[in-house]
Amino acid sequence: MPKPTNELEFPVGFLWGSATAAHQVEGNNYNSDWWQWEHSDRRAEQLRKQNKKPEDYYSAEACDSYNRYEEDFDLLVELNQNAHRISVEWARIEPEQGRFDANEIGHYRKVLQALKRRGIKTFVTLHHFTNPVWFAELGGWEKNDNTSVFVKYASRVLAELGQWIDFVCIINEPNVYAGQSYVGGLWVPQRRNIFLAKTVELNMLDAHKRTYLSLKRLFPNIQFGSAHHVYKLDLQGVLKIFNGLADQFWYKRALDTQAKYSDFIGINYYTRQRMGLTSKRPYISKLPAIFKETDFGWEIYPEGLYQLLLQFKKYSKPVYITENGLADSRDVMRKDFIIGHLEAIHRAIQEGVDVRGYLHWSLLDNFEWAEAYTKEFGLVHIDRRNNFKREVRPSARIYAEICKTNKITAASEERVTHK
Ligand code: BGC
Repeated sequence: MPKPTNELEFPVGFLWGSATAAHQVEGNNYNSDWWQWEHSDRRAEQLRKQNKKPEDYYSAEACDSYNRYEEDFDLLVELNQNAHRISVEWARIEPEQGRFDANEIGHYRKVLQALKRRGIKTFVTLHHFTNPVWFAELGGWEKNDNTSVFVKYASRVLAELGQWIDFVCIINEPNVYAGQSYVGGLWVPQRRNIFLAKTVELNMLDAHKRTYLSLKRLFPNIQFGSAHHVYKLDLQGVLKIFNGLADQFWYKRALDTQAKYSDFIGINYYTRQRMGLTSKRPYISKLPAIFKETDFGWEIYPEGLYQLLLQFKKYSKPVYITENGLADSRDVMRKDFIIGHLEAIHRAIQEGVDVRGYLHWSLLDNFEWAEAYTKEFGLVHIDRRNNFKREVRPSARIYAEICKTNKITAASEERVTHK
């Protein structure tokens, strides 16, 4: 990874922070389709076949952030972060169709006020992979008619909580949700059908557009945008000529639509995928990584973020990195990962891309979906056997220094002590 020779300073007012999502950190999200699926016979059977215990794959209390959010937000202050992304949980706010729960809305009001009291800018995601059970039973994202149900929920959230929200990420990663649930069949509702996957993605994009069109005029001071997953799909060898087409299919078309109905572009970037021709079926497959891989086996490739950012110049909208991070339980790669990606962002800014903030994924080790608690993405480790004790990792302190000084210095490069 290239080392900075000089200080790299970020624009004045740059936002520095981290991100989480409700189901992954709050705990006890029992009105959601994910919770229901975690406890279903189908899921249990699948896990047992892999010699895994179903109860190890329950989200359960997650990080207990539903109760410990004040403690979590104190950590943001300790780590010099001035922005934070959370999601509000639809299944809590509207546990039955049309019945909005005043207590839960009150809970999120307190959560947002707790951030504001600490002077932290708020990014709020309205949908982060989980659905209320009743919405899933209505056909979920498979039916376009259901998008209006989402817009009603979004309107209610903004009416009740809007005054404490600075940025809204309308729907997190439609392409990942559709891919994992409807192509890979790895997430609820585990329906493998590529046509349905496309329908689901398009319906989510439609919901994004409709939410923007109905709410922006009512809440002109709130910045609305996406949290779109982009990874660098890097076709190798003779397939190289299709790289443009692959980008188009994987994220560009969706982003083109979203950008029209957004005040900012929110980007979640983690890795690249090298694909090439092989002699065995299915003939096109993943090639080995060239650079280091995270605990998830994802190649660390900041250059991909730089290349993608340059492509976003054409939208002429502010860009926020709404997620970027890695599974690294020993905290041996996180510091270089963060600095490498920040250098890539800095380079893109020098070349005219209007990047205005960076939110690291994640503040806490949390429920990593189908992988449960086996992958640790946190700046802060959660000791699950010791009453959810929060332990700040050394890399988080280096990041904190960058957040405080608004720059990467040679010192931030060197100062890290590993246990
Ligand atoms: C998702 C997060 C997830 C992270 C790491 C992102 O695509 O938005 O919920 O934890 O990736 O897998």
